[in-house]
Parts: sequence; C-alpha cells; structure tokens
Amino acid sequence: MSANLPQLRDEILKACAAASEVAAVEAVRVDALGKKGRVTELMKTMGSLSPDERKAFGQQINAVKDEITAAIDARKKELEASALDARMAHEVLDVTLPIRPEGRGSLHPISQTIEELTAIFGTMGFEVAEGPDVEDDFHNFTALNFPPGHPAREMHDTFFLPADEAGNRYLLRTHTSPVQVRTMMSKQPPIRVIIPGRTYRCDYDMTHTPMFHQMELLVIEKNITMAHLRGCLAEFVRVYFGVDDLATRFRPSFFPFTEPSAEMDIGCSRQGGELKIGNFGDWLEILGCGMVHPNVLKACGLDPEEYQGFAAGLGVERIAMLKYGIPDLRTFFESDLRWLRHYGFAALDVPTLTGGLAR
Ligand code: DAH
Repeated sequence: MSANLPQLRDEILKACAAASEVAAVEAVRVDALGKKGRVTELMKTMGSLSPDERKAFGQQINAVKDEITAAIDARKKELEASALDARMAHEVLDVTLPIRPEGRGSLHPISQTIEELTAIFGTMGFEVAEGPDVEDDFHNFTALNFPPGHPAREMHDTFFLPADEAGNRYLLRTHTSPVQVRTMMSKQPPIRVIIPGRTYRCDYDMTHTPMFHQMELLVIEKNITMAHLRGCLAEFVRVYFGVDDLATRFRPSFFPFTEPSAEMDIGCSRQGGELKIGNFGDWLEILGCGMVHPNVLKACGLDPEEYQGFAAGLGVERIAMLKYGIPDLRTFFESDLRWLRHYGFAALDVPTLTGGLAR
C-alpha cells in the first residue's frame, strides 16, 4: 500500500498546480482529502497494518496530507489574486472621458436653498452649527422650556425610539432648536449661528412629510434687542427673495423657548390665484422668532441678566417652494429624475450675493 503514496502525492500536487480556477482547486481537494478522497481512503487501510507499520505509515501519510493542504491553499490564494488583478484591469475607468449628456447631475433645491441661506447669513457674520438627528428629551424639549406634560410636546408628533438598556429614551429631533441648546452649552457668547438640518414629525399630507428641513437662527450677545431681530430677519428675506424693500410684519405668537415670540410675515399678492412675493398689500407667514427665554439661557448655563439673544426658525422646503414655484412638498423626496432636471441647479454654480444667489 505505502508504495502508492509517493505516486499519489505527485499526481495530486501536479493536478493542483495545473488547476486554473479556484473551483478546479477545490475539486482537487475533494478528490484528495474529501470524505471519499484518495488520501482519505488510503488512511482507512491503516487498520489492517501491524502497530509498527501503522506508526510509520501514519507519519508518512500525515506529512503528505499537510503538504497537499498547503499546496492547495497556496494555489487558491494565487488564483484569487490573479482573478482580482484581471478584474481590476477589466473594470478600469477612464475618468478623462466626457460625461454622458443624460448623466448630468444637478443640485437638489433643498441643497441649493441651504447654500443660499448659508451665503446670506455668512456675509452677516453667522457660522453654521450642527447637531445630531437622534436627540434626547433634554435638548429637544426640557432645556427649551417645554414643561413635562406640556401640550406643545404632543403638538410635535414626535417619533420616539425604543428605550435603551439604561432606560434612556431617544427621539428624532422635531425641530432644529435643540442645536441652540448644544451651541450655548459648548461655546461662549458672542454666538451667531445658523443651523440648517433634517427634522422629523409623524405627519404626511400635501404640506407635511415625516422628514423635512428647518433652519434655525441664534444670536446671543450682550445688549441684544428685538430691533436686532427685526433688522436681521428683514434683511434676510429681502436678499433671499430679491425684493429690495420687501415689507415685513411681526405678529405676536407663542413658543415655549422665546419671550416675546412672534411670527414674521412678508408682503405678497394672491391675485388671480397666483402667489407673488412683493409689496402688494397681502401677507404671507414666513417664520417663527423671538427673544430667547431666560429659562433657556439658564438651562444652558448663561446668566440672563448678562446675556440676551434672539432666535428664529423656518421651514427650508417652504421657502424653497415659495421662491422656485414648487407646488407639492412631497415631490421633494420622490427622487423623480424629471423633477430634479426641472427644479435642480447646476452643480458648480455656487450661490453668492454678488452673483444674485440663484440664477
Ligand atoms: N422650533 C419651532 C418649530 O419647529 C420653530 C421656531 C420658532 C424656532 C421660533 C425658533 C423660534 O428658534 O424662535 O415649530
């Protein structure tokens, strides 16, 4: 029997070296070392040998088995590497080729609008601040002066996440206002930030989607008054809508985190069922705003006797719809290429004040 071993070894090693695909190497392995493999069968014959013979033969056959296993592994690796090389060579991409005309990308109106907002407030000295989409109750509600059980908490149609092991209950932020809290807790005044970002509420119809975008504004300094708020927001809407003397109006409102609170309207016309922005005598609500509530300043570790500030919040989709005449909110998130081609913006056309923001 043992005389067959060197010959078998040579045959198997030869077959292994000749295999030109990983699957073929695997077939060699099964043929040699599988349950019914040739080496395996040979091992089964050891039972009929004398103890001495068995010992010697056992050592020989184990050495051969190791040698074959190593050869098979090495061959497999070799073939895998050359398969990868071949694929890399085949899938090479010539990045110098001109793009296909139908593949022209464009900026989504949301991205465009956020860039415009950033350009406008950037020139006024604002920085962009960010916070997490998954928030806790403290930042989204408590620190913003929403008392426990306050109806305003329910009004937000909050998506709550299942509690974690420690019993903490997280939520998807219902507004960008929690980033006010995060900013005040991590930076010293003077603070001038805008906070564009995603927000979430459990609501869906013509004017609501479960995910939408807001932009928050926060200014904290010494001696800040409502006059600063009015001047800053009036200037913003004039530049954004491109109407030089656009009239603004402030109506009293309520938000837990501001006192006093207001809603700002801008001039418009609705004649003939068509909405036009400008000083035509009619009014359109555009954003919520107010002076930061002393309780919010305190919750963030700021002394309300020393610092004041103002805040504002607006819906990004809403102001994009108004400026670009987009009738249905839900179309923003349908990823319809025809819609994107129609309402999208050239990717390299960065909005600037001197360039007229959106061309
Ligand atoms: N967070 C408010 C909302 O989502 C919007 C808002 C109103 C933000 C007034 C503000 C503000 O900063 O001052 O309904």
